[in-house]
Amino acid sequence: MSAVATAAPDWSLSAWSAERLRAVEDALSQWVAPDAPAGLGEAMRYAVLDGGKRLRPLLVLAAAEAVGGLPQAALRAACAVELIHAYSLVHDDLPCMDNDVLRRGKPTLHLAFGEAQALLAGDALQALAFELLTPAGDAVPEPVQARLCRLLARAAGHAGMAGGQAIDLASVGQTLSHDELSRMHRLKTGALLQASVTMGAACGHVDGQAGAALARYGAALGLAFQVVDDVLDVTADSATLGKTAGKDAANDKPTYVSLLGLERSRAHAQALLREALDALAATALADTRALHALASMVVNRDN
Ligand code: IPE
Ligand code: IPE
Ligand code: MG
Ligand code: MG
Ligand code: MG
Repeated sequence: MSAVATAAPDWSLSAWSAERLRAVEDALSQWVAPDAPAGLGEAMRYAVLDGGKRLRPLLVLAAAEAVGGLPQAALRAACAVELIHAYSLVHDDLPCMDNDVLRRGKPTLHLAFGEAQALLAGDALQALAFELLTPAGDAVPEPVQARLCRLLARAAGHAGMAGGQAIDLASVGQTLSHDELSRMHRLKTGALLQASVTMGAACGHVDGQAGAALARYGAALGLAFQVVDDVLDVTADSATLGKTAGKDAANDKPTYVSLLGLERSRAHAQALLREALDALAATALADTRALHALASMVVNRDN
């Protein structure tokens, strides 16, 4: 029986999320300081604050809670992943990449602040992510700091997001096989979502079997997320998305929709959701309600 079927009737994702989102917003606002020189702080805050679903921070916190992780470490990890994500969006929107004008319902950072400032804000957000993970003092034990840095560096770099973005740019105008497309999506988007789960778990203690099952959950959810992103690019409007709809076809990007069509893409996302939930059940962790509900949200969202 699934975790949701056994959930207390009064548990809701929105109530669970509300409190955590407040903590994440407060922490981000405090940690992304406005005092960086020459307008850089303002640009960084523009990229990070007031927008975004905050899915990655919620996954970190949900995984950390499921394993009884250190709250201090989890909040830092949640914000660090969001900073890497925000930086990836700023660079993804640049004219040399997707050339987008709308992000999170606002003009993209390079339109508001210029291309050079957008590059620098991305650079600075990436560095700040690792600064957050390595506080002085004993709030986060050093072995935990090292584990978190290793997971995030791997997911953000050549073997993760940056590598996937390189494949994405090299694939414009091409027809990819299902395996090639899946690899690109797992890297450019899936890796950071999976890292959100594994970093949450790294804030506490899990046995090998539960850790591996959580990683499988994160991988399936991460791929499902980008399949749904591809679908929404075709089916949703720009106001709902907060970014320009129809950009993938306009930029001649290979996507799940261009490969499989809408209906098979939706079915694939549902199959990946089942895979994620099966993996979650295999963790045998006591309370996976938030992880369960977040996976459903990823696949059934409309923005
Ligand atoms: C958009 O991610 C970029 C992708 C990785 C597909 P999100 O849909 O999570 O964007 P925000 O954070 O809510 O703006
Ligand atoms: C971007 O994928 C993934 C990132 C690493 C930012 P997309 O290019 O599809 O993301 P959107 O649709 O612009 O948000
Ligand atoms: Mg892109
Ligand atoms: Mg894009
Ligand atoms: Mg997209």
